[in-house]
Formats: sequence, structure tokens, C-alpha cells
Amino acid sequence: MSQNDLFTPIRLGALTLPNRIVMAPLTRNRALPGNVPGPMTVTYYRQRASAGLIITEASPVCDEGHGYPRTPGIHSAEQVAGWRAVTDAVHAEGGRIFLQLWHVGRISHPSLQPNGAAPVAPSALKPAGQVWTGSGLQDYVTPRALARDELPGVIAAYRQAALNAKAAGFDGVEVHGANGYLLDQFLRSSTNQRDDDYGGPIGNRARLLLEVMDTVIEVFGADRVGIRLSPENRFNDISDANPQATFGYVVDRISPLGLAYLHVLEGDMTGQSAPGFDYAALRRAFAGPYMANCGYDRGRAMAAVAGGQADLIAFGRAFISNPDLPARLAADAPLNEADTKTFYAGEEKGYIDYPALGG
Ligand code: PHB
Repeated sequence: MSQNDLFTPIRLGALTLPNRIVMAPLTRNRALPGNVPGPMTVTYYRQRASAGLIITEASPVCDEGHGYPRTPGIHSAEQVAGWRAVTDAVHAEGGRIFLQLWHVGRISHPSLQPNGAAPVAPSALKPAGQVWTGSGLQDYVTPRALARDELPGVIAAYRQAALNAKAAGFDGVEVHGANGYLLDQFLRSSTNQRDDDYGGPIGNRARLLLEVMDTVIEVFGADRVGIRLSPENRFNDISDANPQATFGYVVDRISPLGLAYLHVLEGDMTGQSAPGFDYAALRRAFAGPYMANCGYDRGRAMAAVAGGQADLIAFGRAFISNPDLPARLAADAPLNEADTKTFYAGEEKGYIDYPALGG
């Protein structure tokens, strides 16, 4: 058995995974009122328990962290109970599941915020584009810059959310540091124009992310905490003046922590960036397991793991439409087509009705 094989076990922090095929975090907008994961969500994750690891859809850590309709949170007792049913079901099938901790920052709208307030952000910079509010698309608004003395409250929300995730039975958590949401808004230069010790040089811009990592590690232990980064992704109107230096700094700082893994979205969901980022340098700088994501198919995934460019591959789209993806990839069996119309809306259809092989 080769060490570098997509279909072989790997040690990931405190866990041993039976394969290196990870279910990527996927927003599906099926939560019940109160942003509670319900019985359909239990079925959805149970069906996908053969993944080496499931990373849940992004789950807001507090009310202000929401920016999309029907996304399941991790900040109320009802949400914890809903997630407990999910983790119990996945564990009963022999699976492993991390929760992704999320705060959208400015990628929200007053209609999705407590008391109709403006969303919060490092700086009062309005994102280009529109937000899906549940009553149609609306322009983003100018967010309110978080005051310096509000930042301990943001960190405390992550801490409480990690405690809640533990109470809900998750095997660990992934801190969402990617895709233009709050922690990424602090990190990247286009969205952070603060003049305090959380803005300016990268040592300051990375401070909130690193403090969040520390508090989450205190709750779970570093070997049950992962992080997701997206150095080139311009999704949500974000960019950085020097991504190699920015993300090199972050990885140098997190490498000694003993994290379960580093998860990197290797590309740009909007297709705007000229490719040029050196992901291999990031991988070399990180001492632990490296998880790659962004449009990998079976061949590229097998080659990346065999060639040592990645230790694990996270699949998004293919896991939506193939609940038994590891078995299909192992057998080189055909994949079900994904129905894009039901990615972000709907109920059972396109969520829990994709057949398994022979099903
Ligand atoms: C989305 O809902 O489109 C979405 C959510 C979280 C991400 C990326 C995309 O990290």
C-alpha cells in the first residue's frame, strides 16, 4: 500500500481517516426557522459519512455572522441540538465530521442582521455586488467598522461557538479564514484600512485570525482544529496587494501550532486572478497535513496525492451529487451530474435524493 494514495488512510491530528477524500464545506440553505439544522440535514450528512472527513457548511458563530438565508448557526441551544443529531448520525455510520466556524462580516445586509443594523467589517468599505436577502437580490451596504474594543467580543463569539461545537459532538472545527468573509477581510489589504494594531502591516492584519485560532485551540486542542485560506480568491470583492507575503506570513505563524490541517482553496472562484500564486511554497511552509481544493477531479486528485503536492483533496460539487463519492472514485465509476439550480435553495430535491451506486 502506497503512502501517497488517495484511497489509503491518513493521520489528521487526533483522527485517523480511512481515505484522503474530504467533503468540502458547502452552503446549502436548508436550515429550519431559527437557522437550526433539521432532519433533512441529518440525512444529507449521514448519506456522506464515507468521506475521509466531512467539513460542514459554514456555520455562523453569532447573529451578526449571518449573511445568507437559512444557514445553520452554532450560537443557540436549538442549533446545538440540531447539530447533535447530525454528528450522532455521522458517527453511527462510522464517519468523522468537523464544523466550519463562520462570520461573514460585511457580506451581509441589514435585513439579515439583528435589529436591521449595518453589517460589521474591519473598515467601512462597501463590497461591489448584490446579496440574496430572501426577498430578492439587493445591493450590499456600507458596513460599520468594528471598534477596537469590540474585537474581544468577536473572539469570544468564536470561543463560545467552539464550545457549542464540542457540545454538539463534532470531532473538531475548521476556522473559515477564506473567501472574503470577516477574518479574510481583516487579513487582506483591500478590505482592511484600519489604523490601529489590527490594520496596516500583515502582522497587524493577521492578528484577529491568529487570536481566533488561539481561542478555538484552547477549546478543542490544536489537533482538532483546521483552517481554510484562499490566497487568490476575489469572490466577495476582495484582493491583496501581495498575497504571497500575506499568506506566507499566516502559514509561518500557524505552522508551529500543531493544527490538524491547512485547507487551501487554490484558485479564484470568480476567474479574475491571473494564476501566479505559489501554492507549493505554502505547502512547504506548513508542517502538517495540506488539504487542497478547487475543481479537482479523480485524475488530478490521485496525481496530486501521489506526487506529494497535497495530502488530502476536498471535493465540493461532486459530493453534492454523489453521496458515496469515495466508493465511486475508488471504482472509477461514473458520477451523478449535479443540479446547480438546487445548490442554494429548495428542500429534499437536489439535497438528499441523489442515488448511491446500485441505489
Ligand atoms: C456561498 O454561499 O456562496 C459561499 C459560502 C461560503 C463560502 C463560499 C461561498 O466560503
